Amino acid sequence: MSRRPILAGNWKMHHTHLDAIQVVQKLSYQVDPKTYDDVDVVVCPTFTALRSVQTTLEADRIPIQLGAQDVHWEEHGAFTGEVSPTMLEKLNVAYVIVGHSERRELFGETDDNVNKKVQAVLAHGMTPILCVGETLDEREAGQTQAKVTGQVRAGLAGVKAEVAATVVLAYEPIWAIGTGKNATSEDANETIGQIRAEVREMFGAGTASEIRIQYGGSVKPGNIGELMEMPEIDGALVGGASLDPDDFARIIRYRD
Ligand code: PGA
Repeated sequence: MSRRPILAGNWKMHHTHLDAIQVVQKLSYQVDPKTYDDVDVVVCPTFTALRSVQTTLEADRIPIQLGAQDVHWEEHGAFTGEVSPTMLEKLNVAYVIVGHSERRELFGETDDNVNKKVQAVLAHGMTPILCVGETLDEREAGQTQAKVTGQVRAGLAGVKAEVAATVVLAYEPIWAIGTGKNATSEDANETIGQIRAEVREMFGAGTASEIRIQYGGSVKPGNIGELMEMPEIDGALVGGASLDPDDFARIIRYRD
Protein backbone atom coordinates (compact mmCIF):
# COMPACT_ATOMS: atom_id res chain seq x y z
CA MET A 1 0.00 0.00 0.00
CA SER A 2 1.24 3.49 -0.62
CA ARG A 3 1.44 5.73 2.38
CA ARG A 4 1.01 9.49 2.12
CA PRO A 5 4.35 11.19 2.84
CA ILE A 6 4.51 13.56 5.79
CA LEU A 7 7.12 16.29 6.27
CA ALA A 8 7.03 18.08 9.60
CA GLY A 9 9.11 21.04 10.78
CA ASN A 10 9.97 21.06 14.47
CA TRP A 11 10.90 24.64 15.27
CA LYS A 12 11.89 23.81 18.86
CA MET A 13 12.52 27.01 20.91
CA HIS A 14 13.01 29.22 17.86
CA HIS A 15 10.93 31.94 16.16
CA THR A 16 8.74 34.42 18.05
CA HIS A 17 5.13 34.56 16.90
CA LEU A 18 6.06 37.46 14.59
CA ASP A 19 8.90 35.50 12.96
CA ALA A 20 6.69 32.43 12.73
CA ILE A 21 4.05 34.32 10.73
CA GLN A 22 6.72 35.49 8.29
CA VAL A 23 8.17 32.02 7.89
CA VAL A 24 4.84 30.40 6.97
CA GLN A 25 4.05 33.22 4.56
CA LYS A 26 7.45 32.96 2.86
CA LEU A 27 7.06 29.20 2.73
CA SER A 28 3.68 29.53 1.05
CA TYR A 29 5.13 31.74 -1.70
CA GLN A 30 7.74 29.14 -2.49
CA VAL A 31 5.64 26.01 -2.68
CA ASP A 32 3.11 25.42 -5.46
CA PRO A 33 -0.23 24.67 -3.74
CA LYS A 34 -0.54 21.52 -5.91
CA THR A 35 2.45 20.07 -4.04
CA TYR A 36 0.22 19.57 -1.00
CA ASP A 37 -2.04 17.19 -2.97
CA ASP A 38 0.59 14.49 -2.51
CA VAL A 39 2.26 15.30 0.78
CA ASP A 40 1.23 16.37 4.29
CA VAL A 41 3.25 19.36 5.46
CA VAL A 42 3.20 20.33 9.13
CA VAL A 43 4.85 23.13 11.08
CA CYS A 44 5.30 22.84 14.85
CA PRO A 45 5.94 26.31 16.32
CA THR A 46 6.29 27.11 20.02
CA PHE A 47 3.11 27.33 22.09
CA THR A 48 3.22 31.15 22.02
CA ALA A 49 3.17 31.16 18.21
CA LEU A 50 0.43 28.56 17.65
CA ARG A 51 -2.48 30.98 17.54
CA SER A 52 -0.70 33.38 15.18
CA VAL A 53 0.33 30.59 12.83
CA GLN A 54 -3.17 29.10 12.94
CA THR A 55 -4.83 32.38 11.93
CA THR A 56 -2.22 33.00 9.20
CA LEU A 57 -2.71 29.54 7.70
CA GLU A 58 -6.49 29.86 7.81
CA ALA A 59 -6.74 33.47 6.59
CA ASP A 60 -4.32 32.92 3.69
CA ARG A 61 -5.68 29.41 2.99
CA ILE A 62 -2.23 27.88 3.16
CA PRO A 63 -2.54 24.06 3.07
CA ILE A 64 0.08 23.55 5.77
CA GLN A 65 -1.13 21.81 8.91
CA LEU A 66 -0.47 22.94 12.44
CA GLY A 67 1.47 20.89 14.96
CA ALA A 68 2.48 21.37 18.60
CA GLN A 69 5.76 20.26 20.16
CA ASP A 70 4.38 18.76 23.37
CA VAL A 71 1.22 18.43 25.47
CA HIS A 72 0.15 17.42 28.95
CA TRP A 73 -2.18 14.44 29.23
CA GLU A 74 -4.63 15.98 31.73
CA GLU A 75 -7.57 18.15 30.65
CA HIS A 76 -6.91 20.91 33.17
CA GLY A 77 -5.68 21.35 36.70
CA ALA A 78 -2.82 22.50 38.87
CA PHE A 79 0.01 21.82 36.38
CA THR A 80 1.92 25.09 36.18
CA GLY A 81 3.47 25.66 32.79
CA GLU A 82 1.63 22.85 31.01
CA VAL A 83 -0.77 22.96 28.05
CA SER A 84 -3.73 20.59 27.74
CA PRO A 85 -4.91 18.61 24.71
CA THR A 86 -8.19 20.57 24.63
CA MET A 87 -6.27 23.84 24.38
CA LEU A 88 -4.41 22.51 21.35
CA GLU A 89 -7.52 21.00 19.76
CA LYS A 90 -9.29 24.38 19.97
CA LEU A 91 -6.46 25.92 17.93
CA ASN A 92 -7.03 23.34 15.18
CA VAL A 93 -3.76 21.65 15.98
CA ALA A 94 -3.65 18.47 13.91
CA TYR A 95 -0.37 16.88 15.07
CA VAL A 96 1.47 16.81 18.38
CA ILE A 97 5.10 15.74 18.74
CA VAL A 98 5.33 13.36 21.69
CA GLY A 99 8.42 11.97 23.35
CA HIS A 100 11.02 13.97 21.43
CA SER A 101 14.47 12.93 22.66
CA GLU A 102 15.08 16.45 23.99
CA ARG A 103 12.03 16.10 26.23
CA ARG A 104 13.09 12.63 27.32
CA GLU A 105 16.72 13.55 27.95
CA LEU A 106 16.52 17.14 29.19
CA PHE A 107 13.15 17.10 30.94
CA GLY A 108 12.99 13.58 32.30
CA GLU A 109 10.04 12.39 30.26
CA THR A 110 9.45 8.66 30.77
CA ASP A 111 7.93 6.02 28.51
CA ASP A 112 4.88 6.11 30.78
CA ASN A 113 4.48 9.89 30.34
CA VAL A 114 4.88 9.43 26.60
CA ASN A 115 2.18 6.76 26.50
CA LYS A 116 -0.26 8.98 28.45
CA LYS A 117 0.42 11.83 26.02
CA VAL A 118 -0.13 9.57 22.99
CA GLN A 119 -3.48 8.43 24.42
CA ALA A 120 -4.54 12.00 25.26
CA VAL A 121 -3.67 13.30 21.79
CA LEU A 122 -5.61 10.47 20.13
CA ALA A 123 -8.60 10.96 22.44
CA HIS A 124 -8.79 14.55 21.19
CA GLY A 125 -8.80 13.62 17.52
CA MET A 126 -5.23 14.80 16.92
CA THR A 127 -2.33 12.74 15.58
CA PRO A 128 0.71 12.04 17.73
CA ILE A 129 4.16 12.14 16.13
CA LEU A 130 5.77 9.66 18.50
CA CYS A 131 9.56 9.98 18.54
CA VAL A 132 11.98 7.16 19.25
CA GLY A 133 15.72 6.84 18.86
CA GLU A 134 18.98 5.53 20.29
CA THR A 135 22.04 7.31 21.70
CA LEU A 136 25.48 6.86 20.13
CA ASP A 137 26.53 4.54 23.00
CA GLU A 138 23.46 2.38 22.43
CA ARG A 139 24.15 2.25 18.71
CA GLU A 140 27.76 1.25 19.24
CA ALA A 141 26.68 -1.41 21.74
CA GLY A 142 24.35 -2.93 19.12
CA GLN A 143 21.24 -1.94 21.07
CA THR A 144 19.51 0.20 18.46
CA GLN A 145 16.73 -2.23 17.61
CA ALA A 146 16.01 -3.11 21.25
CA LYS A 147 15.88 0.56 22.26
CA VAL A 148 13.61 1.81 19.50
CA THR A 149 11.24 -1.15 19.47
CA GLY A 150 10.96 -0.92 23.28
CA GLN A 151 10.04 2.77 22.98
CA VAL A 152 7.45 2.01 20.30
CA ARG A 153 5.93 -0.78 22.40
CA ALA A 154 5.74 1.44 25.50
CA GLY A 155 4.51 4.50 23.61
CA LEU A 156 1.69 2.65 21.87
CA ALA A 157 0.65 0.44 24.81
CA GLY A 158 -3.13 0.19 25.14
CA VAL A 159 -3.83 1.78 21.73
CA LYS A 160 -6.27 -0.10 19.47
CA ALA A 161 -4.91 -1.46 16.18
CA GLU A 162 -7.12 0.70 13.93
CA VAL A 163 -6.18 3.82 15.90
CA ALA A 164 -2.49 2.90 15.96
CA ALA A 165 -2.58 2.89 12.15
CA THR A 166 -3.21 6.66 12.24
CA VAL A 167 -0.22 7.47 14.47
CA VAL A 168 2.97 8.88 12.95
CA LEU A 169 6.23 7.47 14.30
CA ALA A 170 9.51 9.33 13.98
CA TYR A 171 12.80 7.45 14.14
CA GLU A 172 15.38 9.99 15.27
CA PRO A 173 18.81 8.66 16.22
CA ILE A 174 19.88 11.03 19.00
CA TRP A 175 23.44 11.27 17.67
CA ALA A 176 22.08 12.62 14.38
CA ILE A 177 19.94 15.42 15.83
CA GLY A 178 21.38 18.87 15.21
CA THR A 179 24.83 17.42 14.59
CA GLY A 180 24.97 17.46 10.82
CA LYS A 181 25.63 13.69 10.99
CA ASN A 182 22.63 12.03 9.48
CA ALA A 183 22.10 8.28 9.41
CA THR A 184 22.69 6.88 5.94
CA SER A 185 19.43 6.34 4.13
CA GLU A 186 20.12 2.57 4.20
CA ASP A 187 20.64 2.57 7.98
CA ALA A 188 17.53 4.68 8.55
CA ASN A 189 15.55 2.41 6.25
CA GLU A 190 16.74 -0.69 8.08
CA THR A 191 15.82 0.59 11.55
CA ILE A 192 12.47 1.89 10.32
CA GLY A 193 11.85 -1.57 8.84
CA GLN A 194 12.52 -3.05 12.28
CA ILE A 195 10.08 -0.58 13.83
CA ARG A 196 7.44 -1.57 11.27
CA ALA A 197 8.04 -5.23 12.08
CA GLU A 198 7.43 -4.45 15.76
CA VAL A 199 4.18 -2.66 14.87
CA ARG A 200 3.19 -5.76 12.88
CA GLU A 201 3.82 -7.95 15.89
CA MET A 202 1.81 -5.64 18.16
CA PHE A 203 -1.12 -4.76 15.90
CA GLY A 204 -1.03 -6.96 12.80
CA ALA A 205 -0.07 -6.57 9.16
CA GLY A 206 -2.79 -4.04 8.29
CA THR A 207 -1.67 -1.51 10.87
CA ALA A 208 1.99 -2.07 10.00
CA SER A 209 1.41 -1.37 6.33
CA GLU A 210 -0.61 1.80 7.07
CA ILE A 211 1.37 3.44 9.86
CA ARG A 212 3.66 6.22 8.67
CA ILE A 213 7.23 6.33 9.94
CA GLN A 214 9.45 9.37 9.49
CA TYR A 215 13.18 9.72 9.73
CA GLY A 216 14.60 12.68 11.68
CA GLY A 217 18.13 13.90 12.37
CA SER A 218 19.99 16.43 10.21
CA VAL A 219 17.55 16.21 7.30
CA LYS A 220 18.52 18.85 4.74
CA PRO A 221 17.56 19.82 1.18
CA GLY A 222 20.60 17.81 0.03
CA ASN A 223 19.64 14.47 1.62
CA ILE A 224 15.82 14.48 1.65
CA GLY A 225 15.62 13.03 -1.88
CA GLU A 226 17.56 9.86 -1.15
CA LEU A 227 15.82 9.37 2.20
CA MET A 228 12.39 9.59 0.57
CA GLU A 229 13.40 7.03 -2.05
CA MET A 230 13.74 4.39 0.66
CA PRO A 231 10.75 2.05 0.76
CA GLU A 232 10.25 2.15 4.54
CA ILE A 233 10.70 5.92 5.02
CA ASP A 234 7.42 7.83 4.79
CA GLY A 235 8.61 11.31 5.63
CA ALA A 236 10.86 13.43 7.76
CA LEU A 237 10.83 15.33 11.02
CA VAL A 238 13.06 18.31 10.34
CA GLY A 239 14.58 20.58 12.98
CA GLY A 240 17.25 23.09 11.95
CA ALA A 241 16.52 23.07 8.21
CA SER A 242 12.82 23.81 8.81
CA LEU A 243 13.58 27.17 10.43
CA ASP A 244 14.58 28.73 7.14
CA PRO A 245 11.69 28.99 4.67
CA ASP A 246 14.01 28.57 1.66
CA ASP A 247 15.48 25.32 3.00
CA PHE A 248 12.17 23.92 4.21
CA ALA A 249 10.54 24.77 0.87
CA ARG A 250 13.30 22.84 -0.91
CA ILE A 251 12.67 19.89 1.40
CA ILE A 252 8.92 20.04 0.68
CA ARG A 253 9.68 20.10 -3.06
CA TYR A 254 11.92 17.04 -2.77
CA ARG A 255 10.32 15.48 -5.83
CA ASP A 256 11.36 18.35 -8.15
P1 PGA B 1 17.60 18.40 13.25
O1 PGA B 1 16.47 18.06 14.36
O2 PGA B 1 16.90 18.30 11.91
O3 PGA B 1 18.02 19.81 13.57
O4 PGA B 1 18.68 17.40 13.38
C1 PGA B 1 15.57 17.02 14.18
C2 PGA B 1 14.64 16.91 15.36
O5 PGA B 1 15.10 17.07 16.50
O6 PGA B 1 13.44 16.63 15.20
